[in-house]
Amino acid sequence: MARALNGTASRTSLLFLLALFIGAIISARWIDVSTLSAKGAKELAARSKPSVYKSPQKPRPPLPERPLNCTPINTNCSSLPWPPFPSIQNLDPPTSTCPDYFRWIHEDLKPWKGTGITQEMVERARRTATFRLLVIDGKVYVERYAKAYQCRDDFTIWGMLQLFRRYSGRVPDLDLMFDCVDWPVVKRWDYRGRVVPPPLFRYCGDKDSLDIVFPDWSFWGWPEINIEPWEALLKDLDDGNKKIKWMNRDPTAYWKGNPYVADTRKDLLKCNVTETQDWNARVYVQDWIKESQQGYKESNLANQCTHRYKIYIEGSAWSVSEKYILACDSPTLLVTPHYYDFVTRALMPTHHYWPIKGDDKCRSIKYAVDWGNSHKQKAQAIGKTASSFILEDVKMAYVYDYMFHLLSEYSKLLRYKPTVPEKAVQYCSESMACPAKGNYEKFMKESFVKVPSDSEPCILPPPFEPPALQLLLRRKANAIKQVETWEQNSRKKTKL
Ligand SMILES: *[C@@H]1O[C@H](CO)[C@@H](O)[C@H](O)[C@H]1NC(C)=O
Ligand SMILES: *[C@@H]1O[C@H](CO)[C@@H](O)[C@H](O)[C@H]1NC(C)=O
Repeated sequence: MARALNGTASRTSLLFLLALFIGAIISARWIDVSTLSAKGAKELAARSKPSVYKSPQKPRPPLPERPLNCTPINTNCSSLPWPPFPSIQNLDPPTSTCPDYFRWIHEDLKPWKGTGITQEMVERARRTATFRLLVIDGKVYVERYAKAYQCRDDFTIWGMLQLFRRYSGRVPDLDLMFDCVDWPVVKRWDYRGRVVPPPLFRYCGDKDSLDIVFPDWSFWGWPEINIEPWEALLKDLDDGNKKIKWMNRDPTAYWKGNPYVADTRKDLLKCNVTETQDWNARVYVQDWIKESQQGYKESNLANQCTHRYKIYIEGSAWSVSEKYILACDSPTLLVTPHYYDFVTRALMPTHHYWPIKGDDKCRSIKYAVDWGNSHKQKAQAIGKTASSFILEDVKMAYVYDYMFHLLSEYSKLLRYKPTVPEKAVQYCSESMACPAKGNYEKFMKESFVKVPSDSEPCILPPPFEPPALQLLLRRKANAIKQVETWEQNSRKKTKL
C-alpha cells in the first residue's frame, strides 16, 4: 500500500514536474521575447509586418531580371523603360545594422549639418571637380569637366548607375561634384571661419581636409591593370587564403607595387633582403608593362597570400591595394598612413593590423616579423580579424549600402530642387556598357546589376557621441604607442 501510494505520489510528482517543465519552456520563450534588445525587437516587429508575399502559400515571385540589352536603340537612355525596374512591394526588412564604419557618414557630412547645402556651395566645388552628377526624378545626368586618369571617372559613374539599379527608384534627387584625383583639396583650415566649405566627393581624405569620401572605382573593376570587380575578386581572395596554411607560408613580409609614386615607397626598397642584411622584408617592383604582356600571370591577387606578413604602404595618397592586402589572412604590416578611405577609419592597430613606423620602416618591419613569428597565435588572429572584416563587412552589398546611405543623407541636406544643367547628358548603364570594348566591356557586364535588391539597405547606425569618438581615437593612438614601446625595449636589449 505504502508502495502503491508511493508510486502514485511519484507519478503525480512526475506529472507535476513535467507540467512545470513545459511551463518553464513556455515562459522561457516568453522571457526570451520580452528581453530582446531594442534592435532585435525592432527587427522582429518588422519581420512580423503583414506581407502578401511572405506567407508560405504565396511566396514572393522572383524579382524581375533585366539583363543588359544592347540593341543599338538602347544606347539612347531616354528611349529606355523608366525606372529600370518596376517598383517592388514588400521588400524584406533590413536584416541588420550596418557595420560601424558607416558612422563616419555622419562625420563627413557634419560641416553642412547646420547650414544645409545650397546650389552655390555645390557650384563652388566645381573648381577641381572631374564631373557633376545629378539624380532628378530618378533619372541620372552627368556633366563632365575633365577626363580622369584611366577608368576612374567612368567606373565611378558606372558604380553609381548600378546603385540606382539596385535600389531602383529609391535614391532621392541629388546634385554632387566628384573629383577623381588622389589628394583631398578642401582644406579644413580654409573654412574655420564663416565660409561654409564646398561639398566635394572623392576617394580619400585626411585629418586636415573636409572632402567627402566615397568608394573608389575599383569595386567595379580596374580594366587597365586587369583587376576584376570586387564581388568576384573577393571570392578569389577568400580561396587564395586557403591555398597555403599560414605556418607553411614564407616567414617574412612581402610587398609588391610601384615604388616610383612616392618617396616613402622608394624608401621601402632599402628594407629588401641583401647578402649582408635581412630586415625580414621581401619587396618587389611591379612592372605593369611586362605584366600586361604576359597576361598578368604574376599579378594574380589571389596568389599573393604566400608570405606570413604583407606590407601596406601608401602611394601618392591612399591606395586601392589596401583592401586586397587586408583580405589576405596574413597579418598586414601597415606603414603609418596619412590618408583614409571610406572603411579604413574603422581599422584598429594590433587588432586588424600591425603598425609600422613610417620614419623607421626597416627596423620596425624586422621587429614586427620577429614578434609575429614568436607569437604565432596572436599574429594569425590579427590576420584573420582583418580578412573577415574585409570579406564580411566590406562585401559588395555593404559597399552599395554605404553609397545609398551617404547619398541619401547628403540629399537630405540639399536646400534646393536640382535642375538639369545645360551641358549635362542623361546617363544609363546601356549608354556606358554597350559601346564599351575590352576589359571595360567585360567588367561592366560582370558588375551590371540585373536584379534590384530584395531587401532594404542595412540600418544606418547613429553618429558617434563625441566622447565615444574621442575614446576611439585615443585607443588607436595608445595601441600604436604600445607597439613603439615594445619596439624600443627590444632594441635596447639587442642594441640594434
Ligand atoms: C533618343 O530617344 C528619344 C526618345 O525616343 C529621341 O527623342 C531622341 O532623339 C533620341 N536621341 C538620339 C541621340 O538618338
Ligand atoms: C629584393 O630581393 C629579392 C631577393 O634577393 C630580389 O629577387 C628582388 O628583385 C629584390 N627587389 C628589389 C626591388 O630589388
